[in-house]
Amino acid sequence: MSTVNQGALELLETRRTVANVSLGEPGPSEAEVRRLIAIAARVPDHGKLTPWRFIVVRGDARAALDARLGPIYRARFPEATAEKTRLEETRFQRVPLTIAVVCTAAEHVKIPMFEQEMSAGAATQNLLLGAHALGYSGQWLTGWLCYQPEARAVLGLKDGERIAGFVAIGTPTVPIVDRPRPAYEDVATEWSA
Ligand SMILES: Cc1cc2nc3c(=O)[nH]c(=O)nc-3n(C[C@H](O)[C@H](O)[C@H](O)COP(=O)(O)O)c2cc1C
Repeated sequence: MSTVNQGALELLETRRTVANVSLGEPGPSEAEVRRLIAIAARVPDHGKLTPWRFIVVRGDARAALDARLGPIYRARFPEATAEKTRLEETRFQRVPLTIAVVCTAAEHVKIPMFEQEMSAGAATQNLLLGAHALGYSGQWLTGWLCYQPEARAVLGLKDGERIAGFVAIGTPTVPIVDRPRPAYEDVATEWSA
């Protein structure tokens, strides 16, 4: 019989999002980034299709990506407030590391797309949990750049590929506060005949 892993349980019971505006240095090291990707790739995957891939954005690439995406945002959302535009123009450079999870799910003779998409979601959650285990915090983000064709091209997305999420990872710059979580009775029912 395997033993109870208290550390893992505590990890699962305490993970919570820290907004990307409150994530600063330090971020994961090179070895930690590789470890995170290995953790993310260790997810249930019906048919072993690997229906996801990862885009790592860190270092100088962050500001370079912002420089490409910023003008697209400004052209697409001219009515946005100055503050919102500033946040979008610095989306990647404000956090030490962002890992985009790209869902590559495609029609398959046996495995429904939905199951492949859920595997991509699991990979994204594994990144959050892995970051938490390494002592960092993170946020799962999507937004306009997942769906805007020019932004998708800048990110290098192929036709049919979709962003499951951008996982922003860093160290909290503010005290972490949790939010209320659903009670058992709110989300679980007992099946009975
Ligand atoms: C697919 C997906 C996309 C999300 N996109 C955003 C987003 O673009 N912006 C945002 O503020 N929160 C987004 N969230 C929600 C946050 O990542 C986070 O789950 C939420 O703030 C609740 O915090 P918690 O993880 O501590 O429960 C997204 C969540 C999911 C599952």
